[in-house]
Amino acid sequence: MQLGEHSYDITVERGALARAGELMRLDRRVLILTDDGVPAQYAQAVADACREPHIVRLEQGEANKCIEKYTEILRTMVEAGFDRGDCVVAVGGGVMGDLGGFVAATYMRGVDFYNVPTTLLSQIDSSIGGKVAVDFAGYKNIVGAFYQPRAVVIDPEVLSTLDPRQFACGMAEAIKMFATFDADAFETVEREGKNVDVDSVIIRALEIKRDVVEQDEKEKGLRRVLNFGHTVGHAVESLGEQSDSPLLHGECVSVGMLCMCEGAVRERIAKTVAHFDLPTTWRGKKDDVIAAMTHDKKASGDRITVIKVQKLGSFTEQKMTPTEIAEQSREVITLI
Ligand SMILES: NC(=O)c1ccc[n+]([C@@H]2O[C@H](COP(=O)([O-])OP(=O)(O)OC[C@H]3O[C@@H](n4cnc5c(N)ncnc54)[C@H](O)[C@@H]3O)[C@@H](O)[C@H]2O)c1
Ligand SMILES: [Zn+2]
Repeated sequence: MQLGEHSYDITVERGALARAGELMRLDRRVLILTDDGVPAQYAQAVADACREPHIVRLEQGEANKCIEKYTEILRTMVEAGFDRGDCVVAVGGGVMGDLGGFVAATYMRGVDFYNVPTTLLSQIDSSIGGKVAVDFAGYKNIVGAFYQPRAVVIDPEVLSTLDPRQFACGMAEAIKMFATFDADAFETVEREGKNVDVDSVIIRALEIKRDVVEQDEKEKGLRRVLNFGHTVGHAVESLGEQSDSPLLHGECVSVGMLCMCEGAVRERIAKTVAHFDLPTTWRGKKDDVIAAMTHDKKASGDRITVIKVQKLGSFTEQKMTPTEIAEQSREVITLI
């Protein structure tokens, strides 16, 4: 990632965890942040390479990406005497990455941050780009910063323990990037389905995201393309939160992408996401969907800029009202 003085290496390598000490500067105090859904041996592999490791293991789940856990971690660091020369390493999915990154961004006005993402979503998307945050007052990512890591260490081996549904969510985001930027990569996933070479998917998705971030580090323009599928996706996600079996983020993005294309493109994206058992339809109340989209923080005035794919490997931007978006989504989401 080339961002001037904030440039960093992103290593994608099977077995990279065993080389943690070479890929990160761990000869100091190291706060290792992980959660109880991440197999303990991954954080331990990092700890083994540290001079003074302090492992903080939170409960798993988005609810822990909060101010309370943030202050708990800061307290651990203060009590252990962490200073500006020490560092934070996140070992886990996007929840640990976002939280650990925000801790690192703010502790003593910023200490070194390393990300060791262990879900497919975090390996291809959230671990690079420098967006770090916690949720607050019912809003996702409402308190945060742009803070780039010093290095990102991606070991695809860790995906062997990941739940298939979580894996599929990462694929939804990869399909999103390929549908908007790379028709060939899209075709490969479309053709190979579950047999696709995961390492190649990770690397290609990272290249796309890296190029986008390098051009638009602070999300002033191009980076919004990564929101393809997210306007309706976020609406579906928030409406499902109260249900007994809420959809995961990537599953909502799967539905959301299909709402932003039509005809043959929609059929091909639907076929591709279906390889990973991602949903291609959803059922909900029209007024709820419209209200949820209006509350999405990406809304501006009463029109929302959405990303559409008319030709695979490319995108267009369009301003639409939530009502127009809901109407256009009729073939994908059954409005009741
Ligand atoms: N910063 C960004 O640019 C950005 C981009 C996209 C998403 N995000 C954030 O990322 C978060 C979602 O990340 P996620 O999908 O990785 O979820 P997550 O971090 O909650 O991980 C999903 C689950 O997988 C478990 N897990 C992680 N690694 C595992 C492994 N190797 N084996 C077995 N289980 C494992 C976790 O314990 C957790 O239960 C959200 O908070 C979202 O806001 C941030
Ligand atoms: Zn997403």
